[in-house]
Amino acid sequence: MFPYEMQILQQLAVLGNNNFLYFVVCCSLATGQISSRYFFIQEPMPWAKGREYCQSHFVDLAVLSTEKEYFALLSAIPANNASFWLGLHKESSGWKWTNGEQLRLTHWYNYNDEGHCVSLEAMFEEEDKLLARSCNEQHRVACQGPVSPQSVAVDFVNIDHLNLSWNISALMQTTSHYYNVTICRFICETLSYPCTNGSSLMSISISNLSAATEYFIYVSAVVIRIEHGTSRKWILQDDPTMLKAKTATSNKTHKILFIVLDLFSLVLLVSSFWYIYIVVKKDKSTERVGDRSSADSTIVVLLPHRIGLEKLENFIF
Ligand SMILES: *[C@@H]1O[C@H](CO)[C@@H](O)[C@H](O)[C@H]1NC(C)=O
Ligand SMILES: *[C@@H]1O[C@H](CO)[C@@H](O)[C@H](O)[C@H]1NC(C)=O
Ligand SMILES: *[C@@H]1O[C@H](CO)[C@@H](O)[C@H](O)[C@H]1NC(C)=O
Ligand SMILES: *[C@@H]1O[C@H](CO)[C@@H](O)[C@H](O)[C@H]1NC(C)=O
Ligand SMILES: *[C@@H]1O[C@H](CO)[C@@H](O)[C@H](O)[C@H]1NC(C)=O
Ligand SMILES: *[C@@H]1O[C@H](CO)[C@@H](O)[C@H](O)[C@H]1NC(C)=O
Ligand SMILES: *[C@@H]1O[C@H](CO)[C@@H](O)[C@H](O)[C@H]1NC(C)=O
Repeated sequence: MFPYEMQILQQLAVLGNNNFLYFVVCCSLATGQISSRYFFIQEPMPWAKGREYCQSHFVDLAVLSTEKEYFALLSAIPANNASFWLGLHKESSGWKWTNGEQLRLTHWYNYNDEGHCVSLEAMFEEEDKLLARSCNEQHRVACQGPVSPQSVAVDFVNIDHLNLSWNISALMQTTSHYYNVTICRFICETLSYPCTNGSSLMSISISNLSAATEYFIYVSAVVIRIEHGTSRKWILQDDPTMLKAKTATSNKTHKILFIVLDLFSLVLLVSSFWYIYIVVKKDKSTERVGDRSSADSTIVVLLPHRIGLEKLENFIF
């Protein structure tokens, strides 16, 4: 049996940063929606089982393509004395992330010939925390949530519409997802675009715009998971990529004005203060209702979810 309760805590520290507040106001989360790149599962399991778990609940095991992602994950890790499986394993061609990318990080604590699966050792004080282990060992798991586009191109503008495109990352190509595009002038409107199966490029057209007007546009990747046995939806969304685009003054001048803000500075800013983790707690059966009312309190704790335990149990064992 599995007499634990799974809770999702979302702690949202709102700092006095205008960009961040603007973002929160603009693209506020719907009920039942979680925004994060990484999710930590406290139940120890072998690597392959961890991967299955991550794929059915999130996107995959955590994939850290860059230094920034590595440190973003470190700063979000909830337990500093634990080991977490990552989506990194040894193939005949060497160390590969589960999205097919070659390992480029050099943060090995140690790798040995027997270990074919990699964990992140949160307990080590050194920055180098990657450790090769035997895949059958049971460890906690770091799962990967959806990833918004790195950059968005404005392909075309005229007086009343604009066309955008972006590359779909290898990680996102393996999972069915969609993009929510929020376009803001005085008010914001959100449009939803499903990702076509198997394609690596998204192209969309936004119409009915006003001429010669600058718009703020937010593009975020969204994944929906339906819990087994219940019909409860679990919406996962990454922080948006933000850009600015201006419609043309007349059809003749196809002048494009756009700025792709560095997504990563935004993600880092936001991720360092947004911690979402899953805690499997013993003997605790209180269910609390979400509270995100006080906008000026420093910490907002959201507890809107309670996961069907029987289902979780079935899944893990
Ligand atoms: C981490 O610390 C907690 C509390 O100090 C302890 O209960 C737990 O067993 C430790 N976990 C590991 C993996 O050392
Ligand atoms: C998509 O990828 C191609 C090839 O890597 C690159 O040339 C292009 O600029 C990318 N587009 C965007 C919007 O990032
Ligand atoms: C994409 O299509 C293939 C076959 O056409 C199917 O096997 C696969 O599950 C689909 N993937 C998604 C994410 O829908
Ligand atoms: C995405 O956009 C659709 C359509 O506007 C909206 O119903 C849905 O709530 C949005 N989803 C998220 C996760 O924001
Ligand atoms: C913009 O997108 C629309 C709809 O997809 C398409 O019909 C049109 O040809 C595109 N314009 C350009 C210049 O690519
Ligand atoms: C554009 O606006 C008109 C009138 O407001 C509406 O009938 C039409 O459906 C809109 N088209 C799109 C693509 O949103
Ligand atoms: C501008 O081009 C669009 C089609 O791209 C057309 O519907 C519209 O009537 C044109 N407007 C003017 C003022 O020419």
